[in-house]
Amino acid sequence: MKPFVALTATVLAALVAAPAFANEAAPAPAKADLAKGEQTAAICSACHTADGSRGITANPILQGQHPDYIVKQLTEFKAGKRKNAVMNGMAAPLTEADMKNVAAFYGSKKPVPGAAKNKDTLALGEKIWRGGIADKQVPACAGCHGPAGAGIPAQYPRLGGQHTEYLEAQMNAFRSGERANSAQMTAIAAKMSDKEIKAVTDYATGLR
Ligand code: HEC
Ligand code: HEC
Repeated sequence: MKPFVALTATVLAALVAAPAFANEAAPAPAKADLAKGEQTAAICSACHTADGSRGITANPILQGQHPDYIVKQLTEFKAGKRKNAVMNGMAAPLTEADMKNVAAFYGSKKPVPGAAKNKDTLALGEKIWRGGIADKQVPACAGCHGPAGAGIPAQYPRLGGQHTEYLEAQMNAFRSGERANSAQMTAIAAKMSDKEIKAVTDYATGLR
């Protein structure tokens, strides 16, 4: 599958290209420092809450998210590859070590469970999650994000428990091209209707 190859290549390139900054001391490959991560998270807490759990629905839950996924997003916000006025600014001053530490801090917290809200679309949401949409060649979300929505480190983020509003907004952003940092997700969202997106994101919130 072509998009998969492209993404893997991008991720590899990012890993290979992640050099120590010239003026930094010899890079003994840093183990994430949770205490430092917590210090950085204090800046983020206004929107993401102190431990990354449920804030307002526009701000994603970070608690229990995979650290590698968080680092990827922060790196891409900083580089402008993922565009969001607030987060582009928040990521700008962070060093690679800051990103690793804050990601480890959120990742060390237990994921928060959520609940689906719309009974009428649960069956459709479950069907798409588990089996995809065959006649549109939409793959099962579970194939990458896991049967219980826990994701698969390091590539596939946790979606279970996440705010439905946030998940839906990201699907719409992938579909419109506003979020262009995942060829896989752009291809998937492009084939889905509003109704299908709403159903599967509501279902995903309730997964645990
Ligand atoms: C003023 C509010 C605000 C602050 C402060 C803030 N964020 Fe965010 N953050 C957001 C919003 C809004 C989004 C969703 C962006 C989008 O829609 O693409 C987001 C998205 C993210 C994401 C992507 C999550 C995902 O599931 O893809 C990460 C990671 C993140 N923020 C980390 C941080 C960190 C680390 C800090 C502190 C250094 C921080 N944020 C500070 C509002 C904020
Ligand atoms: C082939 C693997 C694959 C499949 C199948 C897949 N995804 Fe994804 N998804 C990804 C990857 C990889 C990312 C992370 C993108 C990035 O790095 O920015 C992602 C990210 C997302 C995000 C953004 C999460 C966040 O925190 O911002 C949402 C929402 C999402 N997927 C929903 C879905 C839904 C709904 C389905 C099923 C219709 C689905 N995905 C199927 C690979 C997949």
